[in-house]
Amino acid sequence: MKYNSCSGTKVALASDHAGFQLKELVKSHLNSRGLQSVDLGTDSEKSVDYPNFAHKLAETLIKGEADLGVLVCGSGLGMLRAALCHDHFTASASRRHNNANVLVMGGRVLGPDLAKEILDTWLDTPFEGGRHLARLEKIDR
Ligand code: RB5
Repeated sequence: MKYNSCSGTKVALASDHAGFQLKELVKSHLNSRGLQSVDLGTDSEKSVDYPNFAHKLAETLIKGEADLGVLVCGSGLGMLRAALCHDHFTASASRRHNNANVLVMGGRVLGPDLAKEILDTWLDTPFEGGRHLARLEKIDR
């Protein structure tokens, strides 16, 4: 089977403050591949609420103003609600910041011992509330 080349593809990009540097890297990588990108922000490492940027990207795709999208936040978790965790940091962050109520793990990615440790980290880490609660309420709205 022959796959279509992605030249001509327009990629929408968005991040919060914690994903800003990686978004910039993605943008320059796309550029070096000759791909078009639409940068929807954020524009610095000043703290912002990630749901605003995830929302902008979703709208851009729905309107057909870009073909694909890349979202970057600190953990890679907040932009979606389910928590794909293959390490302790994301397992902990998905509870502390995102109050994730679903843990997703790859049975072909993790060995059984690490999977049990990650599960324990996830189960034993409480939600921090505060500014994180305000962000989750934006997603709910
Ligand atoms: C920002 O502190 C952090 O919560 C955000 O970047 C992201 O990791 C949320 O999922």
